[in-house]
Amino acid sequence: MKNRILSGMRPTGPLHLGHLFGALDNWVNLQDKYDSFFMVADWHAMMSEYEDPSKLSKFTIECACDWIACGIDPEKSTVFVQSHVKEHLELYMVFSNFVPLGWLERCPTYKEQLREITTRELHTYAFLGYPVLQAADILIYKADTVPVGKDQAPHIELTDDIAAKFNSLYGGNIFPSVKPLLTKIPKLLGIDGRKMSKSYNNFIALGDSEETIKKKCSAMFTDPERIKLSDKGHPDKCNVCAYYNLFKKEYAPTVYDYCLNAKAGCTECKKNLGAIISDYLVDVRHKREALLKDKDKIYSILEKGAVKARKVASETMSEVKKAIGLT
Ligand code: TRP
Ligand code: SF4
Repeated sequence: MKNRILSGMRPTGPLHLGHLFGALDNWVNLQDKYDSFFMVADWHAMMSEYEDPSKLSKFTIECACDWIACGIDPEKSTVFVQSHVKEHLELYMVFSNFVPLGWLERCPTYKEQLREITTRELHTYAFLGYPVLQAADILIYKADTVPVGKDQAPHIELTDDIAAKFNSLYGGNIFPSVKPLLTKIPKLLGIDGRKMSKSYNNFIALGDSEETIKKKCSAMFTDPERIKLSDKGHPDKCNVCAYYNLFKKEYAPTVYDYCLNAKAGCTECKKNLGAIISDYLVDVRHKREALLKDKDKIYSILEKGAVKARKVASETMSEVKKAIGLT
């Protein structure tokens, strides 16, 4: 029997290259080896977007289309939307009773987000409980492996603690021990050299047109010491060169040569990169556009996923209620 994985993404904006290299590529590789559940975490998105949730449903559908366009196969994996399976919230409530406030207040991601996100009021009841819902997402399927980036590791540790505490309080050994499967992420910064993120608006989206990609590439930050064409560059310090290493490794020696020896300029270098990235994404772009046009198809994929998910989730919830002693 295959081990089960569950992972999710919050539909708060368009998916970009950071999602592709940071998670999606990895999910695609894992789906043969594991019994895989991939979930669009719309309730989690709601926790930060509650003031204006009007775009959540659009981003939810786009997110699922992006996943499938990138190679997630709904025949192999269970692809669904969190809010379509009500048991997540039931289990979240069960856990809420016994999770100590200290576990949540101490959580490094919580403290960091409160510090960093200043455009939203996040001193809310739900936001503090974010990792409790995440634990419910994972444990309602008894997933024992969670592919995530390093930033999410504290949430997976909390999930494991919550599972252990449930088991010790109510017996039945219902929940497995849970481990993160940390994704090795190739370093890919945004076009301004900071972490690629929606909030910095420095990303290349999977759905960007050829023209947009080229425009964004031409605006990329380069080696600040290379001002004139005759200045020799430092490709190892240049974000554009890092992109070449990722998208077209075989071309990297050429880039090093013309950059180090001042044989070609940054404008040209970035122009070529734009074409390379656009080419790289051409398949994904066409597939996602076709899916986005065929709404019935994507709705039916998500409904099939929800049916599969509900079956497992309702079985777990019955066990949970029995262990607690609820009728
Ligand atoms: N918190 C995750 C993130 O921001 C998204 C998420 C929600 C998730 N539920 C999950 C990830 C369950 C893994 C497992 O990226
Ligand atoms: Fe960067 Fe290319 Fe300019 Fe060199 S030539 S500094 S790699 S953009």
